[in-house]
Amino acid sequence: MDVPITLRVDGRDCDVTVDTRTTLLDALRERLGVTSPKKGCDHGQCGSCTVLLDGRRHLTCLALAVAYDGADITTASGLAEADQDALHPVQQAFLDHDGYQCGYCTPGQVCSAVGMLEEVKEGHPSQATADLEAEPELTDDEIRERMSGNLCRCGAYVGILDAIRETSGRTS
Ligand code: FES
Ligand code: FES
Repeated sequence: MDVPITLRVDGRDCDVTVDTRTTLLDALRERLGVTSPKKGCDHGQCGSCTVLLDGRRHLTCLALAVAYDGADITTASGLAEADQDALHPVQQAFLDHDGYQCGYCTPGQVCSAVGMLEEVKEGHPSQATADLEAEPELTDDEIRERMSGNLCRCGAYVGILDAIRETSGRTS
């Protein structure tokens, strides 16, 4: 069954008709030509398809597009454009700290990091948060835990950790 939906992608309204079985990832990549989110596992295991969906990080390979009619989606490309000519601070930090090798996982890592930093600002605890009553402190263990859904087959984790640590305002 085909259903018309509208997605707002990186600030642009996109009308598309999708089969109800179409994932949000396939709608973005195959139907709208938005290739920033990557298909890695297609099973919710690797995080390479992560975008910001209505401000929250979200896996698009596990989402059915038809359920997100009207959603506001920001991809890693949209983060850069939102800042006009400048890269988003998280993107710049990934560059500065060599937080990638092949770059395939990077758009998902960047979106996840941006979403994760917002979650911390809002006081959401993680599995690594010791004191649930206090404001979460973004220790390295917290960053690793909160980013554990984003895998990097090149093993650029040291640079990714450095980039996120810097962007969060910590220097050590
Ligand atoms: Fe979505 Fe791997 S492609 S989690
Ligand atoms: Fe290659 Fe992460 S940079 S998979």
